[in-house]
Amino acid sequence: MRIILLGPPGAGKGTQAKTLAIRLNMPHISTGDILRQNVSKATDLGKKAKDYMDKGLLVPDELVTEMVGSRIDQPDAKKGFILDGYPRNISQAESLDSLLKARNITIDKVFDLSASEAVIVQRLSGRLACSGCNANYHIKNMPPKKAMICDNCGSKLYQRADDKEETIKKRLEVYKKESAALIKYYSAQKNLQEICADKDAEIVLNEMVGFVSGR
Ligand code: AP5
Repeated sequence: MRIILLGPPGAGKGTQAKTLAIRLNMPHISTGDILRQNVSKATDLGKKAKDYMDKGLLVPDELVTEMVGSRIDQPDAKKGFILDGYPRNISQAESLDSLLKARNITIDKVFDLSASEAVIVQRLSGRLACSGCNANYHIKNMPPKKAMICDNCGSKLYQRADDKEETIKKRLEVYKKESAALIKYYSAQKNLQEICADKDAEIVLNEMVGFVSGR
């Protein structure tokens, strides 16, 4: 099974993808996470991506598509994967189609997670990420047991550099500009499912699992 999660920043794509990946026993491929790892290791890709990410802009399509191509070729992605944060525009959607066609595989389900702007801002301004295992928390909605320490691995939690008010605004602007065409693209392929992601995370997850298992 191959799944794409679309949705604005803060809709909960990462939160849902992590849990869904465990349930379905397949890798969660987040372009944002892979890019942030490259930035923190100061790789060539990270150095090229950093400035775009700090400004809330999209990293150039060709860099991201190459990264996704090599990730889906890893052995753990052979039986399926969940793509989170890719594609983000029509050019990336077309590139993904080419990547899939060359490997003789298809996408089974595209979930479009929607959330109101008030919810998005509340979620992003309180988000905490783990510097060790990448787990996701929220100061109020999903707090760690011990302040600023990850429940899973004990590493320190941090606030993402792009979760500042100005950058959040820019990321939302970029999303609004690109998303309508992307949703139309997948709607035409008849595998798009809209999910209201304002609700409790477990309700959202169960809804997605229901669609995936044909319930
Ligand atoms: P990326 O990391 O993909 O960020 P994003 O798309 O802006 O999405 P977020 O990670 O902010 O939100 P999310 O929907 O995953 O929400 P989360 O689950 O964390 O990309 C970052 C940057 O990388 C981009 O700006 C761009 O520069 C670059 N990039 C990435 N992909 C690219 C691409 N394909 N092309 C070009 N550039 C690319 O949840 C948010 C918070 O809410 C958390 O604290 C969580 O605990 C909480 N929460 C989640 N769900 C719920 C719920 N149901 N109830 C209560 N709280 C909840």
